[in-house]
Amino acid sequence: MDKATRDSKPIIFAGHSSGGPIAIYATIWLLEEYKRLKKTLTHGPFCLTFGSPLTTDRIFCHAVRREEWSDRFVHFVMIHDIVPRILLAPLSSTKEFLEQSLPYLISPSAHHKADSIDKSKLTALFDNVMRNASCVASHAACILMGSTNMLLDTMTKFVQLSPYRPCGQYVFCTGTGRLVVVKNPDAVFQLLFYSLQLVSESESQQKAVASLPAHLAYEDGLDKNLDMRNAIHLENLCELPLSSDNTMDIATKTIVDTLNDLNLSARARLCLRAAGESEKQKEDNQKKIERKVGMIRNALVDLDAYRTMCETRGMGYFDAFKVQKHEDDFKANVKRLELAGIWDEIIEMLKRDELPDKYEAEKSWVKLGTEFRQLVEPLDVANYYRHLKNEDTGPYMTKGRPRRYKYTQRWREHAEQLPRGSCGESCFWADVEELNLAVTSNQARNEQMALNLANKLKEWHAKGEVKTDAFLKETALVTWWKTLPDNHGAKLCIEDLIER
Ligand SMILES: *[C@@H]1O[C@H](CO)[C@@H](O)[C@H](O)[C@H]1NC(C)=O
Ligand SMILES: *[C@@H]1O[C@H](CO)[C@@H](O)[C@H](O)[C@H]1NC(C)=O
Repeated sequence: MDKATRDSKPIIFAGHSSGGPIAIYATIWLLEEYKRLKKTLTHGPFCLTFGSPLTTDRIFCHAVRREEWSDRFVHFVMIHDIVPRILLAPLSSTKEFLEQSLPYLISPSAHHKADSIDKSKLTALFDNVMRNASCVASHAACILMGSTNMLLDTMTKFVQLSPYRPCGQYVFCTGTGRLVVVKNPDAVFQLLFYSLQLVSESESQQKAVASLPAHLAYEDGLDKNLDMRNAIHLENLCELPLSSDNTMDIATKTIVDTLNDLNLSARARLCLRAAGESEKQKEDNQKKIERKVGMIRNALVDLDAYRTMCETRGMGYFDAFKVQKHEDDFKANVKRLELAGIWDEIIEMLKRDELPDKYEAEKSWVKLGTEFRQLVEPLDVANYYRHLKNEDTGPYMTKGRPRRYKYTQRWREHAEQLPRGSCGESCFWADVEELNLAVTSNQARNEQMALNLANKLKEWHAKGEVKTDAFLKETALVTWWKTLPDNHGAKLCIEDLIER
């Protein structure tokens, strides 16, 4: 692969059946490797799978979409193939049968004819997989449609739902040779179930028996039909036609024919629409918070002016805020609360999965989040220790730190591929407070913590992330520094920065 990369050759991982997940993981491994080494991606890697079982979960898919890697994954699924759905049922229920049919699946030759497969066992397996698939698909659909169904909540306490979710774009190959391309992961998930759903009970055995050969039909099927110019892209899901009428244009007519090819019920079409609505809602939510960027910036400008003012008074920003002696300190607190309100709302949306997956990796937001954190978190720490919250709740870092700072710190660390926890330039004041408290209560000095802090401060100051006002004569930081013995490593480390 190194050689291929050097020669600017494209790298494509591909796999059929259980080779699919291996291809997926190999691709992800290489993508992560590129990201870690900050190499740009010109020629791949890409991943193609054929009849791959689902083996990626919600978090995995979220991460892939956050990195905008989804388009690198293309999964082909014959709509009658059971294997892509098989892990929607518990593995324990399918394992035995799969082991028995392995000879056939590996080499469907004269020796291992499809007849050798026990039809009644295959039908039982098929029914079980589809019942379980129905269960997870409707659970997912209820979440999409925002219905808080009590019964559903109760059900999930008793029924173990499959954690697997599709990740990347899917190409469904219909019985009539049409290729249907779907990118929306929620829609793919619904289609995996609905495109194989039974129309009547009596079909069960027939579909079951067809479902294993379908797993082996990729080469033939795709050879004939792999003309992507004829592929139908299911986009604009919100406006998916529910039924046909005579006034439709050709494009819409094609979509309707495709949906009919897939035998999609009215309920299935509503689920696809819901998947589209949900995606659109997330985009709208992001637009809504984009409109608050101006407000955030203005508040940050005001707080920056406040910091400068504190410095001209000879007082560090953190300490001035903690003492709250002037009217400006009070005003700064109002700004802090204003900003906290906006950011907490964003974090809540993220937790409820109401923003696009790629939001947390967007450069402009990572940057704004960092500016916000560096300027405002010291005030939160000051406020925490001013009100002695540490006494009943515990140290700020472990008990009191709001998510709005934890999240934005991770955004930056991830974007710049820095070690987890390394961007503590906004919250070192909490350590300073704890170290000072330890001194006043005569506890043994935490040498390691002191040394780490001093080293980090030096580094952050050099990068301009911690400003000189932290080292003014009367700050909590300098107070702590003075308590260190003269020959202490931490004392010497930042000696040059301290105001005399
Ligand atoms: C899912 O599969 C398990 C294991 O075979 C089975 O016990 C359960 O009834 C199935 N769930 C549904 C909803 O059919
Ligand atoms: C759609 O349904 C019809 C009638 O039940 C059936 O004959 C046909 O095979 C189905 N098509 C697919 C792709 O399942």
